[in-house]
Amino acid sequence: MSQDFHPNVSPDHFWMPFTANRQFKATPRLLESAEGMYYTASDGHQVLDGTAGLWCCNAGHGRREISEAVSKQIAKMDFAPTFQMGHPLPFELAEKLAAISPEGLNRVFFTNSGSESADTALKIALAYQRAIGQGSRTRLIGRELAYHGVGFGGMSVGGMANNRRAFGPMLPGVDHLPHTLDLQRNAFSKGLPQHGVERADELERLVTLHGAENIAAVIVEPMSGSAGVILPPVGYLQRLREITAKHGILLIFDEVITGFGRVGEAFAAQRWGVTPDILTCAKGLTNGAIPMGAVLVADHLFDAFMNGPESVIEFFHGYTYSGHPVACAAALATQQIYQQENLFQKAIDLEPYWQEALFSLRDLPNVIDIRTVGLVAGIQFAAHADGVGKRGYEVFRECFEKGLLVRASGDTIALSPALIVEKAEIDQMMELLAAGIRKAG
Ligand SMILES: Cc1ncc(COP(=O)(O)O)c(C=O)c1O
Repeated sequence: MSQDFHPNVSPDHFWMPFTANRQFKATPRLLESAEGMYYTASDGHQVLDGTAGLWCCNAGHGRREISEAVSKQIAKMDFAPTFQMGHPLPFELAEKLAAISPEGLNRVFFTNSGSESADTALKIALAYQRAIGQGSRTRLIGRELAYHGVGFGGMSVGGMANNRRAFGPMLPGVDHLPHTLDLQRNAFSKGLPQHGVERADELERLVTLHGAENIAAVIVEPMSGSAGVILPPVGYLQRLREITAKHGILLIFDEVITGFGRVGEAFAAQRWGVTPDILTCAKGLTNGAIPMGAVLVADHLFDAFMNGPESVIEFFHGYTYSGHPVACAAALATQQIYQQENLFQKAIDLEPYWQEALFSLRDLPNVIDIRTVGLVAGIQFAAHADGVGKRGYEVFRECFEKGLLVRASGDTIALSPALIVEKAEIDQMMELLAAGIRKAG
């Protein structure tokens, strides 16, 4: 199938993000339209979307409710500042998010992306510690294999080597917990893996090393998506919560991927019964239609900022587009769809079927692990003799040719279909995936 660029458009000028630019431009994969569970590629072939775009479009593509809300809002008021000014929509949206957030996380700071949400969360944590007289708490703890976006804060606490190594010394005073991927003990676990809770205890080691009085916050993805769907071992998040609480360290959950029903419930925090102090989100907030992120913050943190004179700005941070009216309109329409169609519950209802479907791929060539929870899955392949990532890329490419969009991260294929997916589409996804895996060899 040929996917050439339009003859009048040069491929040269768009520097593509996280892409092998020269390889892509030589053999492009171009999408032109989207509806429901499907993209249509530029050569007309239908592509079943196994990834909700890029973990974004949880309500499926082409939702008229969202496009209508966006066009109405852009005509009514295209932009309004939120620095010492306001408009009703971010207040309304913040109230809606507080209503679905884990208990006590009722304050909402708006951003435009997951990266900005991560950096905002880290800044809130540092400023909070200072506000309560704990100014020596400046150290941040991330985790190996974590992805918290591409800002300097998120990159520093992140733990994916390729995302870090070209960019200098990073933020000072950052440490990393070990990751929780353990194929030896946990391969082919159904749901959360049984082994690895003790990896949370590494935090005690870091506390001993640095002193709790120097640590501001720990940030983790409850489930790492970008590094290839790495699940928290049973009890791991609870253990992190206990240790952080014991030492006055804030716990931040980065729920940019897990938010809005991906693992069932609105947030992973609720699914796994662990409440952080700060929670970041983006992507599914607007169904991917308009860039937007948010940081949900515990009341007591917010309150700590509200102590000085009322005329003084409490937190010197924000983005021109924080609470952008058009993004808010998209988010409000999106949240209404989630609620009306009960989509978070649908992820839980479909989970057993999804898991069984995935495990039917277990005996295919080179499959060394399958990890699933909610409506997400990672299938890991043995690395090709020619190098890490080659097999993952080949499966991704073959699947696209056959009409299925998956996401490759190294030699793991990640799947995260929209929560509107039907069983027949899951079946179709598995057939295409099996064919792609066999062809990639
Ligand atoms: C957990 C997590 N945090 C942050 C980000 C960065 O989000 P964005 O690409 O919107 O900046 C991502 C993106 O995939 C993510 O998975």
